[in-house]
Amino acid sequence: MGKSSKDKRDAYYRLAKEEGWRARSAYKLLQLDEEFNLFENVTRVVDLCAAPGSWSQVLSRVLIKGEKFGRAGWKEKQQSTRDYVLRGTNPPAVQDPEATLEGDKDEKDGEKPNPREDVRIVAIDLQPMSPLEGVTTLRADITHPSTIPLMLKALDPATYDPTSTKISNPVDLVISDGAPDVTGLHDLDIYVQSQLLWAALNLALCVLKPGGKFVAKIFRGKDVDLLFAQLKVVFERVRVAKPRSSRASSIEAFVVCEGFCPPEGFKASLDTPLGAGTLIPAPEASSESKETASRKVRGDGVIEIDLGPEEDEPSEVEDGGSRWIAPFLACGDLSAYDSDATYHLPKDRVSLDPVQPPTAPPYKRALEMRKLAGGAYGKTKGREAQS
Ligand SMILES: C[S@@+](CC[C@H](N)C(=O)[O-])C[C@H]1O[C@@H](n2cnc3c(N)ncnc32)[C@H](O)[C@@H]1O
Repeated sequence: MGKSSKDKRDAYYRLAKEEGWRARSAYKLLQLDEEFNLFENVTRVVDLCAAPGSWSQVLSRVLIKGEKFGRAGWKEKQQSTRDYVLRGTNPPAVQDPEATLEGDKDEKDGEKPNPREDVRIVAIDLQPMSPLEGVTTLRADITHPSTIPLMLKALDPATYDPTSTKISNPVDLVISDGAPDVTGLHDLDIYVQSQLLWAALNLALCVLKPGGKFVAKIFRGKDVDLLFAQLKVVFERVRVAKPRSSRASSIEAFVVCEGFCPPEGFKASLDTPLGAGTLIPAPEASSESKETASRKVRGDGVIEIDLGPEEDEPSEVEDGGSRWIAPFLACGDLSAYDSDATYHLPKDRVSLDPVQPPTAPPYKRALEMRKLAGGAYGKTKGREAQS
């Protein structure tokens, strides 16, 4: 698919180039922030599986430069709509799929940025990442224990103690957009993705402060509710979210875990990492939730689940135990682009190049070898001439 046709079929791909984001993934984080206010009071963040770096760009622009995006940008838009309706001020900027974003940009340039103090952002990926203002980048494998000391040192270079595995100054937020190179074999892809998620979670458990947040990409497979149950043991709130910029056809979603509260006696360790089969001390279910949550099969076969009094924490009681059903939320303003739609573009429109092409993509060597062999078309022509 050429750049131009991809521009039409993927509004977020086009928008990312126009707004200067390194990848369309930036909109996923921004839309998650719109819903969950992820960056409120946040100054220390670890971005796992960060290359090419659009999530780190969001962090850098929101925390270091103090620009208003995501929740803060959305609130501002709501306010200008209210002002327009009630006081007849200038109309709010409307997203027009066929327009460039210059107008919006001018408006944003006029706003006063509000940078935060003592910000620390560490980004980790297997792939090299081009530098970003205020972001420490590490090239490392998040599934390998040797990444822990590297991460701790990058977070606190001045006070880092190599003999201790405990962080002196814990972080507010860990985000992970990790994804393997998908094979198309769903079960295998889901398994590899889940291993990345467990690795991200284990790193998060080592560095998060009480009350901290963890956001990670998941592939919604068959037994994903087991994962939610595990997460629910160490976080007060666990929700699953699907941003509007994530295609409906994709099994991708994000777990948003808030209020880090490890059970008493739990010690994060990469020697005995938490994984799909690990048992962690489950907190006693409160007598209230035991009494109220219930599951009833109606005459017509429909299962009704009584979610009890806590609206956002429904649970389903099963034989001898309880399984958490994490609430599922679609997020992103309804006026935002639909990632599954195709948009018409003006005829004279020029398709832009990506903001930051991959520095060393896994397919780089394959491209070099193909070039040496005369390129795909050269080879085909050569064969045709021989036959
Ligand atoms: C979807 S991309 C991340 C996009 C990124 N959030 C952004 O906004 O630009 C997934 C990334 O996961 C990384 N990754 C996969 N396995 C990894 C591992 N074991 N350790 C570190 N990074 C890994 C890949 O190199 C890739 O860059």
